[in-house]
Amino acid sequence: MIKVAPSILAGDFSRMGETVQACDNAGADWIHVDVMDGQFVPPITFGHQMVEAIRPYTDLPLDVHLMVEQPEKQIAFFQQAGADCLSVHVEASAHLHRTVAAIKEAGMKAGIVLNPGTPAYAAEPVLADVDYVLQMTVNPGFGGQSFIPGALANIKKLRAMIDERQLPVDIQVDGGINPTTAQQCVQAGATILVAGSAVFKEADLAKAIAQIRGQ
Ligand code: DX5
Ligand code: ZN
Repeated sequence: MIKVAPSILAGDFSRMGETVQACDNAGADWIHVDVMDGQFVPPITFGHQMVEAIRPYTDLPLDVHLMVEQPEKQIAFFQQAGADCLSVHVEASAHLHRTVAAIKEAGMKAGIVLNPGTPAYAAEPVLADVDYVLQMTVNPGFGGQSFIPGALANIKKLRAMIDERQLPVDIQVDGGINPTTAQQCVQAGATILVAGSAVFKEADLAKAIAQIRGQ
């Protein structure tokens, strides 16, 4: 089962509640929430208050992608705000194993994120402890960038590691995902597709989501 997670980074910031509701009505599976701190990546977006604000507008899982230094400091804030899934970059986490355990103890699904320049084996030590691995298919920080084809090799390596160990771990991809690149990622082994501009540039969100899902 392939899941599609629209990224609200490409949505209208002045009416995020309605945006999330529209994604829900259009058949989204998860809502992807991009948190940037101006340190790990240059832009600053929003923090746990955004999750709190949109929480009443949908029952879909809120999937928070933390592009922040010291992500362990954010766990309690996002749990209290109503996040369901929390992912942290391996490049930003000095104590990755402890951070993953803390996310799970807080009752959320735990994800780890790999930048395009990070080897797939960086996921290996915690692979059995996570619910999903997010393979970035652009360098994080901005929506609307072009898909990096070299990331497909990492997806294949992650898929092989997960299947070899028979782990119930999803592979999420994020960045430059459109119907064409989505299909390439699914063929390589991805199961959760994040898409920002490819969803919100279409007037018909349901059609955009279905096309990304490959329907
Ligand atoms: C990039 C973010 C993505 C971004 C994707 O740093 O993590 O989630 O919103 O945007 P598109 O789909 O436009 O590449
Ligand atoms: Zn993201």
